Amino acid sequence: MIDVMEPALLVKIGGSLKEAGELLDEIGGYPGPLVLVHGGGPRIGEWLNRMGFETHFYQGLRITPPEQMEVVEMVLTTLGKQLAEGLSRRGRPSVALTGRDTGLLEARPLDPILGRVGEVTRINTPVLEKLLQAGLTPLIAPIGLDAQGPLNINADTAAGAIAGALHLPAVFLTDVVGVLRDPKDPSSRFAELSASQVQALILDGTISGGMIPKVEAALNALSKGAPWATIARGSPGILQAVLEGTAGTRVAGS
Ligand SMILES: Nc1ncnc2c1ncn2[C@@H]1O[C@H](COP(=O)(O)OP(=O)(O)OP(=O)(O)O)[C@@H](O)[C@H]1O
Ligand SMILES: [Mg+2]
Repeated sequence: MIDVMEPALLVKIGGSLKEAGELLDEIGGYPGPLVLVHGGGPRIGEWLNRMGFETHFYQGLRITPPEQMEVVEMVLTTLGKQLAEGLSRRGRPSVALTGRDTGLLEARPLDPILGRVGEVTRINTPVLEKLLQAGLTPLIAPIGLDAQGPLNINADTAAGAIAGALHLPAVFLTDVVGVLRDPKDPSSRFAELSASQVQALILDGTISGGMIPKVEAALNALSKGAPWATIARGSPGILQAVLEGTAGTRVAGS
């Protein structure tokens, strides 16, 4: 039996998080089982830039022509290996995977206008369950596969789909304390938001940019079977605080 205060969690690690060491301490020290999904936006942007590519976003998603997909995959794969090393060194043996491993994430392209950007269609959940049973932490880079090859999936979207498929609570760790009424004022955090409140806040522009796929991923996780979903800032003690309901924004289903 899993202790109620040490439940298995799906944790999405935001690529925008700066204090990587501190965050790895926090995640490495969590006493219960974890499935991890990581982003990598800033580092992907840096490398595309260095390689001389221009990047464009469409509704918060990075347009990914096939020749840029190779860079996206290289950056995410290396980042995953580095995070797995950091966690393994902290006593949480972790295995970095992408959608290519065991056909973990099957996907389909979202819209031809976005290039090789996809959404998850099928998840190889048994392999994740086997890793957990073996005491290993799966750390997933959001790269899906279709018949043509790899697809770039927004990390929040992938995390929501995986949490739903595994029926795990979803914790989205990012660089803000939660969904804010005024994005410049950390004290304006919503402790809880319903699906209809989320829709209204997107429509009136309060929720924008990278927060849109995040709240949508939280709602999708809930509709697919996650018991709860919270958006919070990655900081020391955050997982316990989220479990106690004292931090972050909990997104409620209907
Ligand atoms: N109402 C809001 N409340 C809080 N943050 C908001 C809001 N609207 C937009 N944001 C933005 O959303 C950002 C978080 O999403 P972002 O995609 O940048 O980070 P991430 O998902 O943690 O990282 P990555 O996409 O690399 O995995 C915040 O830094 C903030 O600028
Ligand atoms: Mg994001």
